[in-house]
Amino acid sequence: MAWDCTRRNRQSVHADPERIPGVWRIVMGATFVAAMGSVAAYAVQTPAAEPASDAPALDAETRIEASDCASCHAVDRTVVGPSYVEVAGRYRGQPGAAETVARSIRDGGAGRWGEIPMTAHPDLADADLEAIVAWILALPDEGEDRPARDAAAAVYAYTLADGADVELAFPIFVEGQAPTVTRDVFRGYLMYNSYCYRCHGQDATGSQFAPDLRVSLANGMTVEEYLAMAMVGDEAQGMPGWAGFLTEEEVRQTYMYVEGRRLGLVPGGRPPSDY
Ligand code: HEC
Ligand code: HEC
Repeated sequence: MAWDCTRRNRQSVHADPERIPGVWRIVMGATFVAAMGSVAAYAVQTPAAEPASDAPALDAETRIEASDCASCHAVDRTVVGPSYVEVAGRYRGQPGAAETVARSIRDGGAGRWGEIPMTAHPDLADADLEAIVAWILALPDEGEDRPARDAAAAVYAYTLADGADVELAFPIFVEGQAPTVTRDVFRGYLMYNSYCYRCHGQDATGSQFAPDLRVSLANGMTVEEYLAMAMVGDEAQGMPGWAGFLTEEEVRQTYMYVEGRRLGLVPGGRPPSDY
């Protein structure tokens, strides 16, 4: 099933004023409608997960889609959190597994799989939680996670303005058509300048409210770290978590855009594109 922008969680970041720092709240009112328009126009289809397809399974998947899980999890690969297949494998045959996992989902927390915390889900109805947990734990063992991205992925080489050569795991420009940026980079530009610029600065130039993300990447922040920070957030420091509002793909697109900006390959303002 695909994400669509009418999902109720699409608006969760905005719906809860407690989660939104003051500056953000003020500007948000004015630009929210326009921003949602751009999201609707560029609605993202994430790849469908294809586990067993009996009726209860579909039911659990629908419940998962109605929540924010897909921003951080996939069936068979690590995203921000472990794959569901890996979770099923770890708890297979263990008494009390359903209760343990249900508690993890409801209360969130870190340390079972790594350092990154999972957000709590106190509002998930018991019936939803039970169905989701039963579905996850019943997933068949499919061995190791497949690599996060195609292992044999191409490398894209660019020469920067200062003459340095860089190699990226994704293209910035449509092949043979620089400076026309790819669809991903262009959508990253749109997403960034709809949701991130208010604190991180127009066109990824930094501001007094939040770090310059170009500097974060220059200092070695990986795409996985970027994705985790964007999805989990750091509310105590004023960084909202975007899980349930932005998809994994959308956040990866903002990363590609910021990386293009950092390297000086993508200009400020609306980059040349076919869109
Ligand atoms: C903001 C990102 C994020 C969201 C949203 C999220 N998770 Fe997680 N999830 C994680 C991380 C990170 C971990 C690993 C936590 C740890 O190491 O203890 C995790 C762990 C888990 C586990 C393993 C729990 C255990 O006890 O071992 C399950 C199952 C799970 N998540 C399911 C879900 C479901 C279902 C949803 C939606 C209702 C969801 N997650 C939403 C990031 C997320
Ligand atoms: C309401 C203001 C606000 C918005 C909007 C916002 N951020 Fe942030 N962001 C912050 C703050 C503040 C920090 C620093 C948090 C900290 O120090 O822990 C931060 C930190 C980050 C970091 C980690 C940077 C580092 O060097 O550690 C990433 C990555 C990030 N944000 C991505 C995003 C993305 C992507 C968006 C848009 C989808 C976004 N942010 C929108 C306020 C915001």
